[in-house]
Amino acid sequence: MAEFKRKVVLITGSSAGIGAGIAVYMAARGARLSLTGRDQGKLRGVAQRCVEAGVTEQDVLATTGDLTDEAFRNQLVTQTVDTFGQLDVLVNNAGLVLPDTPDLQNHLDVMNLNLNAHVAMSKLSVPHLLRSKGNIVNVSSNAALKVYPGLGSYCVSKAALEMFTKVLALELAPKGVRVNSVNPGVVRSDIARFLNYTDEQYNEFWAEFAKAIPVGRLGKPEEVARAVAFLASDKSSFVTGALILIDGGYAML
Ligand SMILES: NC(=O)c1ccc[n+]([C@@H]2O[C@H](COP(=O)([O-])OP(=O)(O)OC[C@H]3O[C@@H](n4cnc5c(N)ncnc54)[C@H](OP(=O)(O)O)[C@@H]3O)[C@@H](O)[C@H]2O)c1
Repeated sequence: MAEFKRKVVLITGSSAGIGAGIAVYMAARGARLSLTGRDQGKLRGVAQRCVEAGVTEQDVLATTGDLTDEAFRNQLVTQTVDTFGQLDVLVNNAGLVLPDTPDLQNHLDVMNLNLNAHVAMSKLSVPHLLRSKGNIVNVSSNAALKVYPGLGSYCVSKAALEMFTKVLALELAPKGVRVNSVNPGVVRSDIARFLNYTDEQYNEFWAEFAKAIPVGRLGKPEEVARAVAFLASDKSSFVTGALILIDGGYAML
């Protein structure tokens, strides 16, 4: 099970949801982890779950901060490499959904995190990944391919991330660094909290979504984590610039 033994994996947005699922999955396979999110309490909880999954406390670095802040991104990458001596895998996972509005504010907030932060994190990480012959996995969405009316900025941010994945993959292919993308469909998480629903309404919201998905249910963080781990591992040594849809068939509708 030690598929990632001593590999150093930095996962953004790992204080909750899909990112937390990826962290625990990687921990169970021997990775050393650099976890990050804004909420210190949630981040500590995920770090604890990683320890329970099999790594030591020294193998988990938890850094709290806002990924849209350039100084924080610099600190995060530097601290990761200073702590562990290397970086093998960057998982660009942090993301948010906001509805389209007549002004540009939500659009800018979505693009700043879902695209710009990942571009910046990739650029900061590439020198280290060149040394380790590591790789990048971007957590995109089936929204890169599927139209969600009212969520134009979100769809655009993911479609743009898709093209960034491919451009970087082609640039880095001759240098031994792979860049790929996973594209989840609907996975229950905190991502729809912007709707300000009561708990009951929130449950109903996800239940309605589940009915629309061809396989008849929502996805689970671990189902995304398995694909991330495949792309991050040597099992996918000939895969770069690829996209793996994990959406129970939803994008086909
Ligand atoms: N859930 C789905 O149905 C779904 C479907 C397709 C794609 N995705 C993608 O999967 C990724 C993870 O989403 P999720 O569903 O797991 O959402 P989530 O439960 O809301 O988790 C989002 C993560 O991103 C972090 N984050 C948000 N804003 C941040 C900021 N400004 N700076 C630093 N960290 C920030 C959050 O940490 P804090 O709260 O601690 O800041 C949290 O760890 C996103 O890229 C999303 O687009 C999700």
